[in-house]
This record gives sequence, structure tokens and C-alpha cells, in this order.
Amino acid sequence: MITLTRTGAQENVALVTLNRPNALNALCRQLMQELSETLLKIEYDESYRVIVLTGNEKAFAAGADIKEMAKLEFKDVFQNDFFTNWDTLSHITKPVIAAVNGFALGGGTELALMCDIVYAGENAVFGQPEISIGTIPGLGGTQRWPRFTNKSIAMELCLAGDKISAQDAKEVGLVSKIFTVQQLIPEAVLLADRIAKNSPLIVKTVKARLCRGSSINAAYETSLSQGLQTEKHLFQSTFATNDRLEGMTAFAEKRAPKWTNQ
Ligand code: HXC
Repeated sequence: MITLTRTGAQENVALVTLNRPNALNALCRQLMQELSETLLKIEYDESYRVIVLTGNEKAFAAGADIKEMAKLEFKDVFQNDFFTNWDTLSHITKPVIAAVNGFALGGGTELALMCDIVYAGENAVFGQPEISIGTIPGLGGTQRWPRFTNKSIAMELCLAGDKISAQDAKEVGLVSKIFTVQQLIPEAVLLADRIAKNSPLIVKTVKARLCRGSSINAAYETSLSQGLQTEKHLFQSTFATNDRLEGMTAFAEKRAPKWTNQ
């Protein structure tokens, strides 16, 4: 249900494709288990620098599998923790770009919200329709939407279950760029290439959890003053790396930097 393809100009981009087309990539237990395993494999393989997560032209993912969930009782989701590993994506330290064509609903939108950058095809549809099936978002939707946008938009999405277009999603700040359906993945891979050119160590400092802190992600998880402290600390820590010295030296010498990841 998950396809992993190596791509990019330097063959260091992992293209991860949700592949359950008959159910519009509905997120069933097996698909999410495979997704978690694939993401962890990429995380620990140094030959991959950036991840592009996508679906097919009709659906990124139409949410958690409602037919599978319909059979569950409270004890299954609470005691047996049915949704274990569903948030692996949010713990990956390599940059993740979502390339969203078609439906990204419920858990599909929530996967996109976990990614670092969201590119959308012009046919993309986002939303949190859980309310219409008698439940609420469970993969971060009620928490991440207010941080991305504002309380009013988050409430509108989660209370009414309204669906929004790629353009609306761009206006509210979820999506950074919109492309044609066909251009979406090539453009996401070009972006991944631009990220992959930089020092992996410094990329990680921007994105990920060094010293259990983070830089951009801290903006969503802490107060402004704590976030500014984290940023300053991580900025200073780049001066302990060879890649910071190499980057600045190469600029002054008008040459391309040679990253050593140290
Ligand atoms: C299971 C699904 C599904 C889903 C689609 N399918 N979405 N199966 N779970 N979430 C299946 C349909 O049953 C159908 O199977 C096939 O995919 C094609 O779907 P259609 O409905 O025929 O397609 P269409 O008419 O184009 O409508 C597309 C759609 C609609 C608008 C996306 O399928 C829809 O509303 N889906 C549900 C969206 C949703 O409510 N998502 C939130 C889920 S809750 P058959 O066998 O009939 O061909 C959630 C909680 C996350 O995500 C929290 C986790 C912790």
C-alpha cells in the first residue's frame, strides 16, 4: 500500500506514495503501519535527504478508513491504542514535502498538516469532515489548524466539516504553492533538490529536534519567548559545525560549498 521510489537530481529524494486507489487512499491500519515503517527506514538511511509524500491524482488520502473504524469500540481505540504509530510522520527529522492532488480529508488533511511544506495540485480539496460521521479529528487537526490559521477558521472547518479548495488552503496558510495536477510532483521534487543541496546538519537544525529543541517547529510548540530562545541557541550552535565554517568560507571564496555533515 506504500511505494518508495528514489528520485531527484542526486537520487537522494524519497518519493513516498500512498497506494490504495480503490478506497481513495483511505488510511487503514495496514497502510499506516507500512507508512510508519517506510518513514523510519528513510529516516535512518543517510542516502535520503528529503521526503516527498504524495497520493494519486484523485486522492492524497480521503481520511481514516471509516469502514474499519466503524467496527471499533472504545476499548479498541483506548486500551489497545489502535492509532499507535499514526503520528510517525511528525517525528521524522528530515524535511517532508506533501504533494497533494485530489481529496485530502480528515486524517489526509492531518497528514498534510504534519508535513513541513505543502504543495497542492489545483484539484486539491482539504477538510475535517469527521463531525459528519460523529467524531472529531484525532491526528492533530484541532491543534494544528489554530496554529496555522486562526480560531475562527479552525472552528469552521471542524464544526461544519466544510471542505476547502487548494486556493482557499493557500489563502489560510496551509499550502505554499499550487501547480497543475501533472506538474505537482515534478515541482515538489525540484524543491526537494533545492533543499538537498544544503548541509544535512544545518537543514536538521532548521527543522528537527536537536537537543529536544527545534527551530521552525518550535514556533508551533512553544511561546514566542521560548521559541526565540530556542532559535538563538540553535543559531549559536551552528558555529560549532564545520558546515557553517565551510558555507561562509565558500561564499567569501565565490565557490560552491563542500558539505561534510559535521
Ligand atoms: C473508507 C472510503 C473512504 C474512507 C472513500 N472510501 N473514502 N472508504 N474510508 N474514508 C471508499 C468509498 O467507500 C468507495 O468504496 C471508494 O472509496 C470511492 O469513494 P466514493 O465515495 O465512491 O467517491 P466519490 O463519490 O468521488 O466521493 C469522494 C469523497 C467520499 C467525497 C472523498 O468518498 C467521502 O466523503 N469519503 C469520506 C471522507 C471522510 O469523511 N473522511 C474522514 C474520515 S475520519 P466502494 O467500495 O464503495 O467503491 C478521519 C479521522 C482521522 O479521517 C483520525 C485518525 C486518528
